[in-house]
Amino acid sequence: MVEKSIGVFDSGIGGLTVYKSIRASLPKESIIYLGDTARIPYGTRSPATVRRYAYQDAAFLSRQNIKMLVIACNTISSIAMELLKESFPIPILGVIEPGAREAVKTSKNGRIGVIATEATVESGAYTKAIHAINPNVSVYAKACPLFVALAEEGWHNHTATRLIASEYLASLQEMEIDTLVLGCTHYPLLKNVIQSVIGNHVSLIDSGECVAKEVTTLLNKSEEVNLENKATDIFYVTDSGKRFCRIAELFLGKPLENLIAVDIWEANAEAKADPNW
Ligand code: DGL
Repeated sequence: MVEKSIGVFDSGIGGLTVYKSIRASLPKESIIYLGDTARIPYGTRSPATVRRYAYQDAAFLSRQNIKMLVIACNTISSIAMELLKESFPIPILGVIEPGAREAVKTSKNGRIGVIATEATVESGAYTKAIHAINPNVSVYAKACPLFVALAEEGWHNHTATRLIASEYLASLQEMEIDTLVLGCTHYPLLKNVIQSVIGNHVSLIDSGECVAKEVTTLLNKSEEVNLENKATDIFYVTDSGKRFCRIAELFLGKPLENLIAVDIWEANAEAKADPNW
């Protein structure tokens, strides 16, 4: 029997931060990753467009023999989670709730910053999730759209990144936060710069790491965890994979095997008859 894989997707390279955490926690699970590199960024687009793209990505992955779908993108998690849960009959995990829970657990002074894409900030998803756990916590959200391009460019420790981070994070420093949620899966790639600009007294929350723990718990509960399997990963991208490969190798510390460029429209034969497409 061919073992089922875990599906993981993002608009681009950022979801690899989630992939890396899942890979480390579950060495025997195979992962199928999709990065919609042809249409990145999602975070500056309207909710309707994000929902449409997310639906198409999930439809593609749901046909790849997966047992679970991890939305390794905060923008999609905050806008399209409900649509995906209604549309695909497999367990679906997003990054917002795990990140919010960890942030509330970590903060001592009840002042939490959230940095994310414009779409995630506008959705108010983190503020809602944090307030659902503890309504007395103050949440300060700030959109940092340029961080996505800097992460995709591989400028993870660049002077330009430091300058832009100082500009973006100044208002959060004034709010005396003690915890900062990296509310976009691209941002952990810039973790060193973000930490040095915001200061070591602020704890950074990487929602990717948090969701990896939930994936493990869910798999154990469902008894679908692979004990024997030798993991084989596949990486799909929707545009040429050259840049994706370069940055992925840098981040993962080894060359990517099994990288496939795919046209998700062509790959979904029934797509044209699907009203959500
Ligand atoms: N990685 C995505 C997120 O977590 C956003 C990147 C984009 O704007 O497409 O929100």
